[in-house]
Amino acid sequence: MTFYDEVGGRETFRAIVDVFYREVALDPVLKPMYPEEDLGPAAERLTMFLEQYWGGPATYGERRGHPRLRMRHIPFHVDPDARDRWLRCMRVGVDEAHLSPMHEATLWDYLERAAYAMVNTFEPSGIGPEAAGRTPLEAGAAKDPVQRTTETP
Ligand code: HEM
Repeated sequence: MTFYDEVGGRETFRAIVDVFYREVALDPVLKPMYPEEDLGPAAERLTMFLEQYWGGPATYGERRGHPRLRMRHIPFHVDPDARDRWLRCMRVGVDEAHLSPMHEATLWDYLERAAYAMVNTFEPSGIGPEAAGRTPLEAGAAKDPVQRTTETP
């Protein structure tokens, strides 16, 4: 029996991801990072990925190929703020799934490590589509962390 089966299979992962995206849709930093207005296809990709990772069907690989997640995240401005927001959304999803303490700890440990590994910049503002949702920083603002906190809604 895989971890996937133990926690309730597709239904459980789907539920966690649905709650996660419900939270993402309300997050002023994360939401603008998603290229598509409709978060449905992104939810499907993340569900398939997690299912496959935890021993469920390998549909993700069949449709998307090798995950190469760090590479796929390069176009996005994943700084520690985005990471913490991502983890906060995921925390709500995992909490609402009411897993056993052991399953929850195992899943959370993975998600936390994966999120830390996905950070690809420590600059407060980046290039690429994600920058569209942010206020461009004045020259020199990057050196002033206090100013940054006033920029983020
Ligand atoms: C740390 C903060 C993170 C941010 C801000 C972030 C943001 C994004 C964005 C904007 C996309 C593009 C939407 C899409 O095409 O699906 C994406 C895709 C994806 N993310 Fe993340 N992500 C983060 C962490 C993670 C982590 C930790 C995982 C896995 C545990 C993950 C798994 C995925 C997957 C599977 C995709 C779809 C890849 C594909 O097949 O194209 N992400 N992410």
